Amino acid sequence: MRCHVSGPGRGEGCRRALVEAAAGMGVPAAVAVLAAALALPARGLENGLARTPPMGWLAWERFRCNVNCREDPRQCISEMLFMEMADRIAEDGWRELGYKYINIDDCWAAKQRDAEGRLVPDPERFPRGIKALADYVHARGLKLGIYGDLGRLTCGGYPGTTLDRVEQDAQTFAEWGVDMLKLDGCYSSGKEQAQGYPQMARALNATGRPIVYSCSWPAYQGGLPPKVNYTLLGEICNLWRNYDDIQDSWDSVLSIVDWFFTNQDVLQPFAGPGHWNDPDMLIIGNFGLSYEQSRSQMALWTIMAAPLLMSTDLRTISPSAKKILQNRLMIQINQDPLGIQGRRIIKEGSHIEVFLRPLSQAASALVFFSRRTDMPFRYTTSLAKLGFPMGAAYEVQDVYSGKIISGLKTGDNFTVIINPSGVVMWYLCPKALLIQQQAPGGPSRLPLL
Ligand code: GLA
Repeated sequence: MRCHVSGPGRGEGCRRALVEAAAGMGVPAAVAVLAAALALPARGLENGLARTPPMGWLAWERFRCNVNCREDPRQCISEMLFMEMADRIAEDGWRELGYKYINIDDCWAAKQRDAEGRLVPDPERFPRGIKALADYVHARGLKLGIYGDLGRLTCGGYPGTTLDRVEQDAQTFAEWGVDMLKLDGCYSSGKEQAQGYPQMARALNATGRPIVYSCSWPAYQGGLPPKVNYTLLGEICNLWRNYDDIQDSWDSVLSIVDWFFTNQDVLQPFAGPGHWNDPDMLIIGNFGLSYEQSRSQMALWTIMAAPLLMSTDLRTISPSAKKILQNRLMIQINQDPLGIQGRRIIKEGSHIEVFLRPLSQAASALVFFSRRTDMPFRYTTSLAKLGFPMGAAYEVQDVYSGKIISGLKTGDNFTVIINPSGVVMWYLCPKALLIQQQAPGGPSRLPLL
């Protein structure tokens, strides 16, 4: 379904109508919608990058620090792994959908710097060097990310970037043609991090090469104010890890979801074009999530305006996992140009939760999420109960099934059937703002989705 209203006049009308409608809404929903309508200017790192959440592939969760290339050549951290992932991204439809970063994580470096003090890749696992790998990736229309650590050592025990090395390492990455840097924070103090993360932002800018900057700083400081200054982070980093590492399990996904939505009042306002909260990688396609849970991770990450960095083996991914990760409407929602992070708006006693993300063109996304463990649950509600403005009608598309409901009015009751640990996700676009008409016999019931 196309909800995109084209032409300047209509967009403006859409926006005005929403601002007016927001006056009658609940406070949180109204604030979100007003922010969407006004399209507040970005405050991010002024490198012009990551205007939408970065998308691509990151080695860590799936491939960790496996450096045993002798016994495990296909699964170890080597140039071959990144070249093969670049091939898959370029040839299997990922690139066209927006997945473009191929990101190296820890354990790529040799244990010692060279005679000039420069970082060098492990000569056996990266015999052609990082520049050649960047060329390979660029030739396929993709971008290369690399990993560093502000501290004595990386978390995996490889050479880190101490404060006296920040400029040198930024220069090395730029010379290699790197497009994104994840800067971890093992083996450094809070004081060193407070100095080093802004210092690296300046050093990257000074190279003149556009390099997306991902900061792990907040994750090392508990992720919350007053220890974490999100205003400053938004000025120096394009994205930042707020919380613990994701692991290959549903428990891990849930703990991340819990933390991010419990703290949404703090975190949500700081996301926007150029500067994103990062709840960590997508683990869809691995071993820990069921089909329903995989669909839930994708939907909830999209609601959060999270970076979509897959960490799975794209050479062997199942068709069903691929379908989830390649859902066009999902990606369109994730990449919405307004870049407003969504929020949890309802937590029911029945263990159903509802999430809302305002989108451009006065559209929005809703996720109905079940934490239940018994059977598919019939959840009945109305857009009015979810804080939508009265007197409106919507075109609704189910993001996973593709089914359309036309003309859903704010007051209409509807029922969604949500599987255990699964989601139903909707994309909604206002059809027109109607003068509310009370049909004889009350609001109409809609077909089940
Ligand atoms: C930390 C990071 C992870 C990963 C590892 C690498 O734990 O949070 O994402 O980069 O280090 O050692």
